Amino acid sequence: MTRVGVNGYGTIGKRVADAVAAQPDMMLRGVAKRSPNHEAESAVRRGHDLYAADPERIDEFERVGVPIAGTLPDLLDDIDVVVDCCPAGVGARNRERYASHDVRAVFQGGETPDVADASFTARTSFEQARDVDSVRVVSCNTTGLARLLAPLNETYGVEKARVTLVRRGGDPAQTDRGPINDIVPDPATLPSHHGPDVRTVLPGVDVDTAALKAPVTAMHTHSVNVTLDGTPTADGVRELLEQESRLFLVPEAAGIDGAGALKEYALDCGRPRGDLWENCLWTESISVSGTDLYLFQNVHQEADVVPENVDAIRAMMTDTPAEESITRTNDALGVGLGSRLGEQLTPNGPVTADD
Ligand SMILES: NC(=O)c1ccc[n+]([C@@H]2O[C@H](COP(=O)([O-])OP(=O)(O)OC[C@H]3O[C@@H](n4cnc5c(N)ncnc54)[C@H](OP(=O)(O)O)[C@@H]3O)[C@@H](O)[C@H]2O)c1
Repeated sequence: MTRVGVNGYGTIGKRVADAVAAQPDMMLRGVAKRSPNHEAESAVRRGHDLYAADPERIDEFERVGVPIAGTLPDLLDDIDVVVDCCPAGVGARNRERYASHDVRAVFQGGETPDVADASFTARTSFEQARDVDSVRVVSCNTTGLARLLAPLNETYGVEKARVTLVRRGGDPAQTDRGPINDIVPDPATLPSHHGPDVRTVLPGVDVDTAALKAPVTAMHTHSVNVTLDGTPTADGVRELLEQESRLFLVPEAAGIDGAGALKEYALDCGRPRGDLWENCLWTESISVSGTDLYLFQNVHQEADVVPENVDAIRAMMTDTPAEESITRTNDALGVGLGSRLGEQLTPNGPVTADD
């Protein structure tokens, strides 16, 4: 059993904690955060041992009646690996502390690549994470692009990928984010950092990205154009991508027309927090002109990196083969449920969570 702690219990941390707790070969020993707010209370309510990340703020937890099991150093003394889910930049400041407690660390995509020994997605970089002390799970957008481009590159060869990312302005709970009535180039300079970030996990792939921020919270949308070395057919690309367990090809018959309906579908299927761990590709958008492939995909920013964090732990801490780890993670979480339902969807066919 790998003993795991999660430091930073927000959007990503709470999901990673639940995903780790669901793995039969991992033990969640506790979660840490700074403030005794509603997320602290719900961590305790969900049965997680809660630790005060800042020992000087223990009094605040006691004052509002949120029970704590100790402080972050206590948690670090009790685990093999920590998943740092603190806000971007805080992870880098925590790095020395983790090393001093002799625990390995998984960082998130808000950190720069030099925070860790290797950057990670399970599909592209499992072996690079073997026996290192730290990995960085790349960001939600980068994870979504790497999952898509890896099989295309292996089968056809990617000559050049060009992607426009319409990013959600903030997560649903981030009331301080925006824009609220605009679409903002972010950054206005090209290319955006996402393309170089993809190359940290897919070094040979040439990808340029341009990014905008839109007044939505549900998901990111990617408009993808890939010039391939080979000449594909749209059917061939569809069949190739359908074999990827973390790609969900949204069937036309589902009548799902956007991120709102996707989230509703996830909730109706019983997904925790309405999470979509898979990239959601619009099947009817997959089009080919010569060697150019076009498609749209949506990425649930709060969720797609979650199974990747679980696999990153297994890659670093065990000798489990990549495919076996991915399958174990998928089975424990229910990743792929959407695609199985998708295959069975017909315009007249009901969908049930038991299918
Ligand atoms: N949200 C996304 O869409 C998304 C997607 C992929 C990757 N990421 C990356 O994942 C990381 C976490 O992002 P997030 O969206 O989950 O952030 P978040 O929702 O703001 O959560 C961060 C958590 O860390 C706590 N925290 C802050 N400072 C801390 C410290 N010094 N020690 C311990 N806990 C601390 C925060 O609450 P308290 O201060 O109240 O304790 C909060 O619980 C970032 O690197 C981000 O770039 C985010």
